Amino acid sequence: MTFSGHTILITGGTSGIGLGFAKKFAELGNKVIIAARNEDRLNQILSENPTFSGFVSDVADENSLSQLVNFINENFPKLDLLMNCAGIMRAINLFEQADNSLGALTEEININLLGTIAVTQAFLEVLVANNGMVINVSSGLSNLADGAHPIYNLTKASVHFYSDALREQAKYFDKALKVVELVPPLVAETNLESHTNTDAPNNMALSDLINETLAGLENGLERIDAGFSKQLHQMGKVNSDENTKLLSNQMLSNYFPKNKE
Ligand SMILES: NC(=O)c1ccc[n+]([C@@H]2O[C@H](COP(=O)([O-])OP(=O)(O)OC[C@H]3O[C@@H](n4cnc5c(N)ncnc54)[C@H](OP(=O)(O)O)[C@@H]3O)[C@@H](O)[C@H]2O)c1
Repeated sequence: MTFSGHTILITGGTSGIGLGFAKKFAELGNKVIIAARNEDRLNQILSENPTFSGFVSDVADENSLSQLVNFINENFPKLDLLMNCAGIMRAINLFEQADNSLGALTEEININLLGTIAVTQAFLEVLVANNGMVINVSSGLSNLADGAHPIYNLTKASVHFYSDALREQAKYFDKALKVVELVPPLVAETNLESHTNTDAPNNMALSDLINETLAGLENGLERIDAGFSKQLHQMGKVNSDENTKLLSNQMLSNYFPKNKE
């Protein structure tokens, strides 16, 4: 797959990683459609990037998703790349947080996991008809629990397993669909955790993530472990139990320090 001449839908395309890819894909000569919930933000991005198309949509809402499907089917029947990038991340203290209702605890599952499954299913037929590709954005934190993001971890691990299963089914049933899992590490210039400084020096530059991903796609990789995600992948495979404890200690003390003074 060369990276021009495609019709690309990016959920979560109004910010961070999704927006970065939207700009790059458009620059390379692709038709780009972005979808996200916040209408003002979407309109702002569309006015700054006049070649983009966009649609207000919530991946976790069935009605909203069916409106997006109608919009794409009517206007972009050549859709051949879906990038499932919409996502949220919550640091959760399971013991003390004010709102640990089931609704709050399952929000990440609804968006990151069920949203990815629902959007993919909704466009599967058109993607196969167009010899297309799905890029599911998981996370380095799909490899092992980090303690501080108990639900986020499981949604990303599940996106990983879902992507593997979808890929194997496509091969087994001879469907013209490539399935790629993009596994980013912590990335700068994003709003995933708006209270943290995503531009910290160790975070991967968004442009580096995009370049590494494009190189991976050109080389036909099915799983792209970008930057530090390569180490996280190893940490999840070798001494996984030990590494989970180490990472969790570090992350829990970062997010929920015991000595606050
Ligand atoms: N940043 C990182 O370090 C990092 C690392 C690994 C993986 N990731 C993954 O990369 C993806 C993008 O994250 P990001 O860092 O770019 O975050 P971001 O800057 O916060 O962007 C998230 C995007 O998702 C959209 N979104 C959230 N909930 C949605 C919903 N229910 N329906 C439709 N759109 C929704 C947001 O727009 P609205 O709020 O307007 O809907 C926004 O456009 C996520 O899946 C994240 O888990 C990020």
